[in-house]
Amino acid sequence: MTHFARSSGYPTADRRYDYACGAAADSDHATAADLCEQALEIAPQWAPAWFALGEARGALGDVDAAEAAFRRALDCDPEDSQGAALRIARLRGESPARPPDAYVRDLFDQYAARFETHLVRDLAYRAPAILRDAIDHACALAGREMRFSAALDLGCGTGLMAREMGEACASIDGVDLAPAMAARARASGLYGAVEAGDMQAFVEARSDASVDLVMAADVFVYCGDLAPIFAQSRRVLAAGGLFAFTVQQAQTGDYELGADFRYAHSRAYLTRLTQSCGFEILVCDDVSVRQDRGVAVPGLALVVAAP
Ligand SMILES: C[S@@+](CC[C@H](N)C(=O)[O-])C[C@H]1O[C@@H](n2cnc3c(N)ncnc32)[C@H](O)[C@@H]1O
Repeated sequence: MTHFARSSGYPTADRRYDYACGAAADSDHATAADLCEQALEIAPQWAPAWFALGEARGALGDVDAAEAAFRRALDCDPEDSQGAALRIARLRGESPARPPDAYVRDLFDQYAARFETHLVRDLAYRAPAILRDAIDHACALAGREMRFSAALDLGCGTGLMAREMGEACASIDGVDLAPAMAARARASGLYGAVEAGDMQAFVEARSDASVDLVMAADVFVYCGDLAPIFAQSRRVLAAGGLFAFTVQQAQTGDYELGADFRYAHSRAYLTRLTQSCGFEILVCDDVSVRQDRGVAVPGLALVVAAP
């Protein structure tokens, strides 16, 4: 069960909720559901308890009741910082075009302080190094030096990509939806500018053919429909510029929301999209940028060139 460290304003409801989270952690989902219902009798508008009830009911296999609880969580928190819409989509086997912004923002704001130790050390996260190698390979294939004058780092996180590519780029501007992540990237001193905001608006604000590298390391796992960001990346890249990104790999369809609430994209979808934008594919490698419970998660690293 996802534990949200917030208060309902009612100590008894908070305690019931904490016990519910404990019961869920022990896989006692019936007790968890019961305790959530008790908390909601006291604080009926408290989104975290509705969300926890949805999780407990889902774990008990009651899909309709789980969806009803997630809908109540959404009613109580329309911004959807818990990602109730994603839970409902998963229950229905659907993959929405993108997750709620507030969900991604809260997830990474809470994660920012331990992002590097947890992800890099515990989950064998290697997207920035893998993407750097892919860019290096693409430059060799294109017969050009790995040097860029103006680069963009989409979903820059704490700045790991700039650590990999800083020496090859005269300037890198970054953007991240989570202000706490953007603040860490800014503090690294490796970026020209770092914005806290959505990558789509960030790229849309740039002039045509104004950059020669757009990077996105492990960011498209938080976006289903990639057509808008591909089109904008193509527009801002000068001739010969590179668009480099990693994805988690889907075996069928275009994209799907996985059980880990991240998106996976198929090779066929990426090929179709890049070609419809007029990109030439230089590199499309099978990679794994992270582990999940000790197992390598299949992914792809692509580097495509603007004509
Ligand atoms: C797994 S982290 C990767 C960070 C960094 N690229 C790296 O490799 O270390 C994904 C990052 O993408 C950001 N993100 C997700 N969706 C975004 C969006 N639509 N616009 C901007 N940033 C986004 C998240 O806030 C998070 O910091």
